[in-house]
This record gives sequence, C-alpha cells and structure tokens, in this order.
Amino acid sequence: MAIRQIVKLGDDVLRKKSFEVTDFGSKTHQLLGDMYDTLVKADGAGLAAVQVGVLRRMFIVIAGESVKDGVIEFINPEIISSSGEQDGTEGCLSVPNKWGEVKRPYKLTIKFQDRYGKHQKLKAEGFLARAICHEYDHLDGVVYIDKARDIREKQ
Ligand code: CO
Repeated sequence: MAIRQIVKLGDDVLRKKSFEVTDFGSKTHQLLGDMYDTLVKADGAGLAAVQVGVLRRMFIVIAGESVKDGVIEFINPEIISSSGEQDGTEGCLSVPNKWGEVKRPYKLTIKFQDRYGKHQKLKAEGFLARAICHEYDHLDGVVYIDKARDIREKQ
C-alpha cells in the first residue's frame, strides 16, 4: 500500500463528476488500500477517490471516532432517503486549514457496493451521516465550501 498525494482545491479534477466503478478486483482493492493509508497519514474523517486524482465513484469514511477504528468503504453509492437536519462544522483534506458550518440531513439511508461488488444498504445518523454526505458530494464535483457559511482559517 502507499500514501497518495491529496489533490487540493484549485485542481480541476475536484470539480469533475466521477465515473461508476466496474472493477472489483485487485486494482480497486489497491486503490482502497492506498486511500486508507492516505487517510491515516492525514488523520482525516473521510476521503473520496477523486481526492487522490482518481475519478471513480468511491469513498471511505471512518467507522468510529478516528481512522484507527477502521473505515467503511462505499462504492457506487446512492443516498436513497434522508430526513431531519443537523448543523455542524466541516473541513476537507483538499481544503487545508479551513472550516465552515454546513447543514446536512440528520439521518440517511445509503445503498452501495462493497469491494467485492456485493450490494449493501446502511442507515446512518449524526456524524456518520454528515461524513457520508460530504464525501458523496465529492463524487459530483461538489466541495463543502460551496455550501458552507462562516468559513474560517485555523490559526
Ligand atoms: Co472533502
């Protein structure tokens, strides 16, 4: 596995729509492994493939409080329902040292494929729902700052 370079805001690739994943073999597994290593190194909450320059509809999100708790892998995801609302602070590894407030649904149901191509469904709420929405937006070229208010820089 390897740590990949994280694409930063200003790079056109972040604004592109990612393509469906059709390979569930070693190439995709390698990419997922590299994304995990990259997320561990950056100590982030989630990472989409486009953030390492690969336009494929897949992302990983931490399964607990930090990346040490492992990650959930979402491939070809589709949010099929959402409800409620939460307001909270977000940052993004592609937008270093900035934070902003974003409204997201409180709960959602997402269907997706796992790394073997098996269809899965997950209900998420709170922080996990927020992280999923953030990464899901990356698949369509949307970055959280498009939706955020009170954007500020860390000292
Ligand atoms: Co992000």
